[in-house]
Amino acid sequence: MISKTVITGGASGIGLAIAAKLLADGGKVCLLDQSDANLVAAQERFGSERVMTATADVRDDAALNLAIRAGAEFMGGLTGCVASAGIGYRVPILESETSDFERVIAINLTGVYSTLRNAAQVMIERGTRGSLVSLASVCGVRGCADRAAYGAAKAGVINLTQVAAIEFAKHGIRANALCPAPINTPLIDGVQSAQHKAEWLSTIPMDRYGEPAEVAELASFLLGDKASYITGQAIGVDGGWMGTGLQTADTHISRGAAE
Ligand SMILES: NC(=O)c1ccc[n+]([C@@H]2O[C@H](COP(=O)([O-])OP(=O)(O)OC[C@H]3O[C@@H](n4cnc5c(N)ncnc54)[C@H](O)[C@@H]3O)[C@@H](O)[C@H]2O)c1
Repeated sequence: MISKTVITGGASGIGLAIAAKLLADGGKVCLLDQSDANLVAAQERFGSERVMTATADVRDDAALNLAIRAGAEFMGGLTGCVASAGIGYRVPILESETSDFERVIAINLTGVYSTLRNAAQVMIERGTRGSLVSLASVCGVRGCADRAAYGAAKAGVINLTQVAAIEFAKHGIRANALCPAPINTPLIDGVQSAQHKAEWLSTIPMDRYGEPAEVAELASFLLGDKASYITGQAIGVDGGWMGTGLQTADTHISRGAAE
């Protein structure tokens, strides 16, 4: 199967890496983003034979609908959709404004809802099976300080994915969410100080941030037929972060005594 995939937030970071992986495997992509400059750079990097780019803000449902339909026309079908568009936001609850909370939810949750809904509609109209992949986060699974809006949006993406998996199964459409720990992208550079990075690293067993290409490998697998029985999942790409408890390296050996 040739992958024909629309990617929101496809002009940077994780979305861009997923595009590169799908193209390297012979697929076609339609990159949607609000950043014209990044879209131009992506088009220059990938050429125009198998790549379409279009400006679209995921908060604009009508624009998203038109862009996804145009992408499906360009690619000759739609087998996949990746909802990667998102913003970072790290502010304590007592210091944040309701308008900020609503902006993060509008982009990081409602934007994913609009993306999945419009993509599934096009797949159903075309009578094709498909796979939807959304970018959630480890912060949608556990509470992360200063991320009420971001975490609530990502937790919402996980539940939205589960519901989409149920409702779209009869149409042959799967839906899964990825839950990365910090990944080296421009989004991270924008919100994390050196001290903050050190705090994260102290909680990640693999003691490093992930790379966008490592997330792209999982996305590509989920978009393809080899993942044919996988749907409704929220899967960590996190260097072990979600599996951790006590992490001290200098263990105090205790044979048989209760902790
Ligand atoms: N980088 C990480 O550490 C990390 C970890 C967990 C989850 N995520 C999630 O992965 C996704 C991608 O993040 P990234 O690190 O690649 O970020 P990034 O900033 O590199 O890329 C995000 C892209 O989304 C686009 N975008 C932002 N708002 C938009 C809007 N309203 N409409 C359309 N496009 C919009 C930006 O222009 C950008 O090109 C996000 O949803 C993010 O929350 C990232």
